[in-house]
Amino acid sequence: MAIQMKILVAYYSRTGTTKAVGEYLAKELGADIDEIVDLKERLGPVNYIRAARDAKGLNATEIRCEKNPVDYDVIVIGTPIWRNSLPPAPHTYLSSHSLKGKKVAFFITSASEDREFVFKQMKQRAADSEIIGTCGILQKVVKNGNISDQLAGIIKTLKAESVSNSQVHLVE
Ligand SMILES: Cc1cc2nc3c(=O)[nH]c(=O)nc-3n(C[C@H](O)[C@H](O)[C@H](O)COP(=O)(O)O)c2cc1C
Repeated sequence: MAIQMKILVAYYSRTGTTKAVGEYLAKELGADIDEIVDLKERLGPVNYIRAARDAKGLNATEIRCEKNPVDYDVIVIGTPIWRNSLPPAPHTYLSSHSLKGKKVAFFITSASEDREFVFKQMKQRAADSEIIGTCGILQKVVKNGNISDQLAGIIKTLKAESVSNSQVHLVE
């Protein structure tokens, strides 16, 4: 009998790309899923400019989410990149939830492959957790529906990292 840790996939998504990846990961991992909702309107051209400005300023925002990462052993957090930075909603999420002692993985969807700075921002906000993996995927790849190959590596890592002999969540 395998002993399975509880996994949460939490994501922020403005236009559905990161959401698609989060839903795929949650399905493959048998994880719970939670959308990090930015209570500030982010759609439309004016809000696009505001979004870029808020990201550049690393401004916090008001968010809503349903699940508490404290209840999970492994937390997978997904985000787009805005102006080469972490958008306000995942920034606020990471700054307002303690992930101390948790196994944590990050995924990013973006227009370019220049993601290292944002991964660094995320790691800094989860400094007292164990980072077990990162994965970046281009928006155009998600739109083309070719995500399974790109995500195979992180899924393998997460499955291996989320099986333990010392946890209490039993699966058949
Ligand atoms: C305000 C704004 C700024 C962006 N800046 C960047 C950027 O600096 N680098 C990049 O690769 N993509 C950038 N993007 C593109 C998004 O990261 C990319 O389209 C992402 O996959 C969208 O995810 P979503 O559909 O889940 O919101 C930006 C998007 C927005 C809305």
